[in-house]
Amino acid sequence: MIPAAGRGVRLGPGAPKALRALGGTPMLVHAVQAMSASRAVSLVVVVAPPGGAEEVRRLLEEHPLPERTDVLVVPGGDTRQESVRRGIEALPDGVDVVLVHDAARPLVPVGTVDAVIAAVQAGAPAVVPALPLADTVKEVEPRPDGGAEPVVGTPARARLRAVQTPQGFDRATLVRAHEAVAVEGEGATDDAGMVERLGAPVVVVPGHEEAFKVTRPLDLVLAEAVLARRRATDGDV
Ligand code: C5P
Repeated sequence: MIPAAGRGVRLGPGAPKALRALGGTPMLVHAVQAMSASRAVSLVVVVAPPGGAEEVRRLLEEHPLPERTDVLVVPGGDTRQESVRRGIEALPDGVDVVLVHDAARPLVPVGTVDAVIAAVQAGAPAVVPALPLADTVKEVEPRPDGGAEPVVGTPARARLRAVQTPQGFDRATLVRAHEAVAVEGEGATDDAGMVERLGAPVVVVPGHEEAFKVTRPLDLVLAEAVLARRRATDGDV
């Protein structure tokens, strides 16, 4: 499932983030192609921007996927958590492993997708790809008035991981998490976090630097460079 209903405010003004072009192709199309590159993926559920379901269906028809891949498009909600819940409701019977992948991570390599699926199939109820951090992280006391924020702690960097998507779940665990956990305000930023709140185990597999999230304008520059490098090396992206 690909939640793609975010507005992408941090990227600057323009179309919903998922529909912005990367190498001439909308980011969402790259993300759908990245998921369908895995032989284990038989269905991709796209959670579209509000009012954008028809446009998304049309775009996906213009960019054919492998024959084994079905696509379903459903409208998203106000928060990421709500969008994922709508995607879950659209899942047909018989799907036991569910991946949740941000449209904003269009360049995740198929090896990462397959590693997440394999870990769920091996028995983990929830799996996240993750990388060690380059930066040291501080916890602060946020100051809404814009004043200097006091530092309240420095978690040991060696114990921290930056998590990516696709996050993989045993379907029943993901459903239970979304039924049981209501995160107030902006909702959950991460589905595995909801599973943790349930008390179920979540494990990490190695992420990939090309699975970064396109959030700010500089990320678009990096994404274009990664695509250009792929085109130069294998000519088929
Ligand atoms: O905002 P953030 O970067 O955390 O968004 C992560 C993913 O969740 C993006 O792919 C975005 O399109 C999606 N999203 C959504 N519905 C929302 C907000 C975000 O599907 N209401």
